[in-house]
Amino acid sequence: MNINTVKTTPFTDQRPGTSGLRKKVAVFQQPPYLHNFVQAIFDTQVSLKGGTLVLGGDGRYYNREAIQVIIKMAAANGVARVLVGRGGLLSTPAASAMIRKYETQGGIILSASHNPGGPDGDFGIKFNTPNGGPAAEGVTEAIFEHTKTLHEYRIMELPDIDIDHLTEHTIGTMRVEVIDPVADYAELMEQLFDFAAMRALIQGGFRLCFDAMHAITGPYAHEILERRLGAPAGSVINGEPKQDFGGGHPDPNLTYAEELVAQMFGADAPDLGAASDGDGDRNMILGANFFVTPSDSLAVLAANAELVPGYRGRLNGVARSMPTSCAVDKVAEKLEIACFETPTGWKFFGNLLDAGRIVFCGEESFGSGSDHVREKDGLWAVLYWLNILAVRQQSVAEIMKAHWAEYGRNYYTRHDYEGIGLEAARGLMAHVESQLPQLVGRELAGSTVSYADNFSYRDPVDGSVSRNQGLRIGFADGSRIIYRLSGTGTEGATLRLYIEHYEADPGRVRGETQQVLAGLITLAAEIAELRERTGRSAPTVIT
Ligand code: G1P
Ligand code: ZN
Repeated sequence: MNINTVKTTPFTDQRPGTSGLRKKVAVFQQPPYLHNFVQAIFDTQVSLKGGTLVLGGDGRYYNREAIQVIIKMAAANGVARVLVGRGGLLSTPAASAMIRKYETQGGIILSASHNPGGPDGDFGIKFNTPNGGPAAEGVTEAIFEHTKTLHEYRIMELPDIDIDHLTEHTIGTMRVEVIDPVADYAELMEQLFDFAAMRALIQGGFRLCFDAMHAITGPYAHEILERRLGAPAGSVINGEPKQDFGGGHPDPNLTYAEELVAQMFGADAPDLGAASDGDGDRNMILGANFFVTPSDSLAVLAANAELVPGYRGRLNGVARSMPTSCAVDKVAEKLEIACFETPTGWKFFGNLLDAGRIVFCGEESFGSGSDHVREKDGLWAVLYWLNILAVRQQSVAEIMKAHWAEYGRNYYTRHDYEGIGLEAARGLMAHVESQLPQLVGRELAGSTVSYADNFSYRDPVDGSVSRNQGLRIGFADGSRIIYRLSGTGTEGATLRLYIEHYEADPGRVRGETQQVLAGLITLAAEIAELRERTGRSAPTVIT
């Protein structure tokens, strides 16, 4: 077997975004685009030499090809052992669990998360460090810097290897073990949750519907929900992973999880509805005719930790990303535990989790998780809810209403303006930022602005500072308006507008969320000259 050292020219656009490097499939398909980035990982992450690498992806189009390239490059770069999910599959949380369990030197996850797949869709690659989490900014920046000067990559010359059977291969001095992508993960879930109580609940006639959206969680949900917990066949829908996610958009929200939403808001709806995204780290939770916002979900998980075996008696802190609603802050206040506010992106939770400062963390973007892995975890959240439901014997809506009665309610919405021009988006952000100093102390939309700034975060563990993490306007009554540009898109710019209003007495304000927030939404648009600058009169997606 020959190691080929191939001359290459650097690319200038390989800076990882909120969650790894994401581009159109066609970009990755053009050699040496993938090769260069992978070489930059091997060159900068020196412990991989002689170490173990976990490898897998969400099964989207080009996953299999990329896996073969990475195995051959790993062999040429001195990696001692690769653990690859059968079929090249691993959900993001399962990859994280595996990196930790086998004490490896890291993992490469192939995914563009909730972005559509297929030949015209998106592809992505990210490196996770030995703690199981997405590489911190220092690491992703080092990889990026290296891609700008890279002039060769190394690859072993050999035919594709069989990744579809649970076998082992030896390539030069490297071992490749093809492993069951589900088993370790399912076992971890059994350690955290009360499977007996959940099984009893389901046996008693409780009905659930899990929509895997033709993405990675299908095999995981079939195994855990149907086989281990006894949910009747058919409880998992769209459970067969497809390279293009069946042509759908694998993002679990009210717009894209159509089939699930139709069931949950139809006659004779199941008791619990849930969905996950392309790579299995997001979740949406629904009750019969009831939607739980992700921010509220995080608060409920924290408030009910005593009911769940894996978390009883050990909740010392929580964290949420800055744009996530402050619902979990109220729970932390009452429990007298720490509550951290981090920039958007899971990588910012890693240090807090590693240092044992928090147990739960979450984002408004349908992500929540705990210290069991270093990624957000879609099925984990579903099992957590199921565990709560099994113990409390109340409906999803009853649990949520009781929560609001106790802690107050954070009305919350996110408006996305997708595919607007980069220039327009940057101009809008600059325009908002320029007004921030004058806003403080002003009375707007019925409350006084108490702060207005460009969010900057100082990591309490390593002291690193991340600036420019979103523009925020905070009001004395707890309301907030936040503007951010997405860091995961692959075309133009996406403006995210996050709006929140806190109501201490949930009995007082009645009405639908968009109505309650209407005044703030209008104000946010006016401050940003939204219509004038983007030409849009309505958001693309409302969550
Ligand atoms: C989005 C979400 C963010 C999440 C990320 C990866 O990033 O807003 O919370 O961590 O996807 O799933 P954005 O496009 O806003 O940068
Ligand atoms: Zn995802």
